[in-house]
Amino acid sequence: MDIREYLREKKEFIDRELLKFLPREPEYGKKLYQAVKYSLTVGGKRLRPILCITACQVVGGDPLSATTPACALEMIHTYSLVHDDLPAMDNDTLRRGHPTTWVKFGEATAVLAGDALLNRAFEILADWNFDCERKVKVISEISKASGMLGMVLGQQCDLDAEGRKDVSLKELLFIHRHKTGRLITASLVSGGITGGGSKEEIEALRRFGDSVGLAFQIIDDVLDVVGEEEKLGKNVGSDAQKGKITFVSFFGVEGARKRAEEEVNKAIESLKVFPKKERIYLEEIARFIVEREY
Ligand code: IPE
Ligand code: IPE
Ligand code: MG
Ligand code: MG
Ligand code: MG
Repeated sequence: MDIREYLREKKEFIDRELLKFLPREPEYGKKLYQAVKYSLTVGGKRLRPILCITACQVVGGDPLSATTPACALEMIHTYSLVHDDLPAMDNDTLRRGHPTTWVKFGEATAVLAGDALLNRAFEILADWNFDCERKVKVISEISKASGMLGMVLGQQCDLDAEGRKDVSLKELLFIHRHKTGRLITASLVSGGITGGGSKEEIEALRRFGDSVGLAFQIIDDVLDVVGEEEKLGKNVGSDAQKGKITFVSFFGVEGARKRAEEEVNKAIESLKVFPKKERIYLEEIARFIVEREY
């Protein structure tokens, strides 16, 4: 099994489906439409949607049935990046190998494009022609993970920690688990719910998500130090420049990598409830998360 091939194929599928979920171009205010389309189509690994459809499959569901939540998750993630890059937040100029949305379209339109993407995500979920009970559970899971006790809270805490020397490991873990971990967990759990997973299976996906979510952000911190701008497609050295506390500032590059590996091993352990043949994709994605260079 070649995980890079699997990821490439799924990414292409998601890229196509996302385009179909864009509304029509309006008569006026086309700049908003263009900024949304640009942000959504300029690149990205599509990891969250891939986790969602793979989780749907691991519980025995039809992966195609998770296309709508998968695309909604990518819209929310993309909105979070558009806002994260704004001068008021991380003030970055390169994303997915291209100028950030605010650099290309201006700050005000970048704020609105993020707002539009977030709303579009819930529009497509509301309109999703699917079993109503599961659909409401998925919406509940994704909205809580993204919202004021989830990713948005993590982003606030990330800003609050900027430049401070007294950030504890406990606080840093809270930041990483919220700003990044929660949406990754929601991707897995919503895929599991869509596929009709049992309570035990959903809990296994949740534990897996919590561990890979943390590992993902630890490696994001590492790549900000040792990554290559061309491969990564975003500004490197951005965290140090802003005085952000990261796993690298705590443990150094090798120490941080080791922590991420430990989390990934823990994640893989959580998958034992699934048959070997089925869980291999999630296992390989978990390994990819620590080995990646982008
Ligand atoms: C970057 O996410 C932001 C974090 C939450 C760490 P990704 O590394 O998944 O970014 P894309 O979607 O591939 O551009
Ligand atoms: C971003 O964390 C988390 C969210 C966008 C929610 P970072 O600020 O570390 O992500 P990058 O490094 O800019 O992609
Ligand atoms: Mg940030
Ligand atoms: Mg950032
Ligand atoms: Mg980062």
